[in-house]
Amino acid sequence: MRRLLFVAAFAGLLLCACERDYSIKYEVGHTPTMGMSFWNAFQLNINEDLVKDQALAVKELGYADAGYKFINIDDGFQRPRGPEGNFLSDDSLFPSGMRAVADYIHSLGLKAGIYTDAGDNTCGSENIYAYGLGTGLYGHEKEDCKLFFDEWDYDFIKIDFCGGQHAKLDEREQYTKIAEAIRACDKKDIIFNICRWRFPGTWAADLATSWRTTYDIRPWFSRVKYIIDENLWLQAYTRDGHYNDCDMLEIGSKWPGSDACLSPEEEFTHMAYWCIASSPLIMGCDMRKVPEASREVMLNKDLIAMNQDKLGLGAPVVQRQGETYVVAKDIERIFGPKRAVVVMNLGEEPSSIDVSVADLGFESIKSVYDCKVHTEVPEMASESSFNVSLEPHCCVALFVTGKRIEKSVYQAEESFMNMFSTIEGYQSPVYLPNESADMGMYAAGLGCNPDNWLQWNNVFSCKGGEYVASVRYTSANPTAFKVSVNGREAASFEDLSTGDDSSAWESVNFKIKLKRGLNQIRLSNDTGFMPSIDCITLHKAER
Ligand code: GLA
Repeated sequence: MRRLLFVAAFAGLLLCACERDYSIKYEVGHTPTMGMSFWNAFQLNINEDLVKDQALAVKELGYADAGYKFINIDDGFQRPRGPEGNFLSDDSLFPSGMRAVADYIHSLGLKAGIYTDAGDNTCGSENIYAYGLGTGLYGHEKEDCKLFFDEWDYDFIKIDFCGGQHAKLDEREQYTKIAEAIRACDKKDIIFNICRWRFPGTWAADLATSWRTTYDIRPWFSRVKYIIDENLWLQAYTRDGHYNDCDMLEIGSKWPGSDACLSPEEEFTHMAYWCIASSPLIMGCDMRKVPEASREVMLNKDLIAMNQDKLGLGAPVVQRQGETYVVAKDIERIFGPKRAVVVMNLGEEPSSIDVSVADLGFESIKSVYDCKVHTEVPEMASESSFNVSLEPHCCVALFVTGKRIEKSVYQAEESFMNMFSTIEGYQSPVYLPNESADMGMYAAGLGCNPDNWLQWNNVFSCKGGEYVASVRYTSANPTAFKVSVNGREAASFEDLSTGDDSSAWESVNFKIKLKRGLNQIRLSNDTGFMPSIDCITLHKAER
C-alpha cells in the first residue's frame, strides 16, 4: 500500500500539463458494429417471417435511426449439404431463399448478417440435432463465401469455432484461409466477426473486424461481470477499427425458457461498459417485446456516441479500488479535451471512491456530463478528485472535459503483448493479479522469442523531448530486456533479479527521447527470459 501511495504521489508531482492544444485528429474506418442477432432470444427457432418482422421492428421502433443497422441471422437456417457438397439453407424455414431475405433487409435500409463455423459443424448442431453437421466452412471456404456474399449479398458474417474444435483445426490458419476467401469475393467491405469465445490472439485484428473474447453472455450479472473482468485487461487489442467483442447485449430480454434477466441498473452498467470498451452493440432480444426502460438504455444517445466515437479506442483501467473500477478513453481527438469515463462497482457491497482527476488524465476538470440523465453535474468538476458512491453492480457513465496532462504511469496490464491469447494451451504471456503490484496487476511470461514482446502503443508527449523512464519489474532468476522507442533501441539491461518473483520489486531507470504526439515503447528479449513487468513511469528530464 505504501508503495502505491508513493507511486501516486510521485506521478502527481511529475505530471506535465500542456498549455496548448496538442490533440491529434484521427478516424477509424469502421466504428463498432451495431445491430441485432437472433441467437439469444430465439436460438434455433428462426424462420423467414420472424427475420423480416424483427428487421421491421428495428426499423420502425427507432433502433435503426439510433445506429443499429445489422440484422444478423445466427445458427439454425442451414440444412445438410447437397450431393456435390453445395451449401443449402432450409427451404421449409426460409421458403423465399436467403437472397430474398437479404434483399428485404436491404430494402429497409438495413444490413444483413449471416452465420457459419470455421470447422465442419456449427455450434447449435452439436448437441441438438443434425441440421448443421457438415455445414461449416472447412473444405468449402471459397464456394461458401462466394455464395454468402456475392450470390446472397450478406454484409456481415459471424464465424464460430465448434466445428473447428471438432475437426482439431488451428484457429489462426483456418481463420486466415477464411479471411482470404472473404477478400477474394467481389463484394467488399464485409464485416467479419470471429467467434472463438476467448481472446484469440493479436493476429485476429489482421483478419477480422471484431472477435469474441469470452464465452456466451447470459442474463445474470455474474456472467456480465465475468465478461467485463476478462475485457478489463484486453483494451490495448481494440485498435484501428478492429474490436474486442464482448458478445450480444442481454438487455430487454429473458433467456428462452427462463425468467432470468438483469435489473435496470445492471442493464445500464452492461450497456455503459460495452459502449466505453467500443464493443460491437448487437441486441439479443425479441425486438417486439422490449420493456420501455430497457429500450431507453439501448437507445441512450450519449452511450451510443461513446461507443461510436470515431477514434474507436479501448478503455483501460485508470483507477481501481477493490472491485470498483474507473475506466476511461479519449473521445473525438487523441489527447483532446474530452474523455469518456465509466466508474463501476462490480462487487457485492456498496462502494465509495474518490476519482482522481490526474488519473483521469486531467490537470483540472471543466465539466462533467452524466450520460444516464443527460445533464451536466457541476459539483463533480474539480481540481483534484470527485467522489462516486455506488450500489453493487451500478455505475456512472460520464463525459469529462478539462485541461489535459501527460500520463506518467503506464501499467503493464494496459500494454499490448504481441503473443497474447487467452485460448487454453497457447504459449502466451499473461496479465496476473498481485497485491504488491501497482494497481494490483502485472505482466509475466515475456521474452525467449523475437515476437514475445510488450509494447505501450499510446505514450503521449505534448512537446517531445528527453524523459526519465523507470521500469518496475520482478524476477526470481537473472533476466534481461531491451527497450526500444519508436522502433529504435534506447536501453538494455542484464542480470535483473529481485530474488523473489511475487513480492520483491525493483526498478531500472534510464533516459529516452520521445517525439511530439504518440510514441511506442517496447520491452523485449529475443532469446532469454524477461522479468515480469509492473509498469513504466515517465517524467520529463530536467534541462
Ligand atoms: C456459439 C456462439 C453463440 C451462438 C451459438 C450458435 O455458442 O458463441 O453466440 O452463435 O454458438 O449455435
